Amino acid sequence: MKLNRFSVALAAIRPLIGACGVLLATTVAVQAASDVEAGKAASATCAACHGATGNSAAPMFPSIAGQSASYIAEQLHAFRDGNRVNPIMSPQAKALTDQQITDLAAYFSAQTRTVAAPSTDDSIPGAHLWKFGGHSNSIAACAACHGAQGQGNQPAGFPALRGLTPQYVLESLMSYRDEQRKTEHANIMVSIAKKLSDDDMKNVAQHIATFR
Ligand code: HEC
Ligand code: HEC
Repeated sequence: MKLNRFSVALAAIRPLIGACGVLLATTVAVQAASDVEAGKAASATCAACHGATGNSAAPMFPSIAGQSASYIAEQLHAFRDGNRVNPIMSPQAKALTDQQITDLAAYFSAQTRTVAAPSTDDSIPGAHLWKFGGHSNSIAACAACHGAQGQGNQPAGFPALRGLTPQYVLESLMSYRDEQRKTEHANIMVSIAKKLSDDDMKNVAQHIATFR
């Protein structure tokens, strides 16, 4: 949440930066850069699983490169505080300070997400659900929040999904359905996931894997 307010504040002062000239602009730029640098230094332990730039090579580790900073920070707080539990990831977040979480979120959100091998095996019902949602059970179109190609919506904090494996997406959707992810914004997905059948989840996960 801190980051959200920071972004809002930044947006609000941006016109001022222009008006006040180079000095203020430089100060703001230097502060932002030092966050990313500190985050880079702290990210060494993350690299083993998520890749040095946050592009993971293994299907069970989600890519976090280019993810919205507010989303990354919210998940790290949740892992640290026990509101999202995973036997591999939770211990990684236990010792992080608020400042380290802010810096790590800044670093990984500034990296470029790459999708090494998009799937060519699409799912027609999955693509339909993604683009149009479900008519009979009023499921909102996933694309409305996550973007046409799963690129996410950084300002809104809706996570990018491109590059996430079907295995990870499926597990995430099931965790929402079972109310195991308890972040501040998880309820948006909980209400959606409760309306999805197992087949819906598999189909949409297969479609997400085709995004490049
Ligand atoms: C030993 C492997 C491992 C290490 C090291 C590790 N992670 Fe993770 N991380 C995981 C796994 C596994 C998940 C998926 C957890 C789940 O399914 O709930 C995850 C999930 C995440 C997520 C949530 C991604 C999403 O899309 O919701 C973030 C953010 C994250 N890790 C950041 C970090 C950061 C920052 C570090 C370093 C401080 C780190 N991780 C170190 C294994 C690791
Ligand atoms: C109204 C906006 C909205 C819609 C519509 C929506 N999502 Fe989400 N989605 C979110 C938000 C917000 C989060 C992050 C929630 C949190 O904090 O855990 C999220 C998280 C996710 C995640 C977890 C990502 C990760 O990295 O762990 C998956 C997977 C996902 N959504 C899939 C879907 C699918 C599939 C659909 C369509 C059936 C969908 N979403 C529709 C807003 C939305």
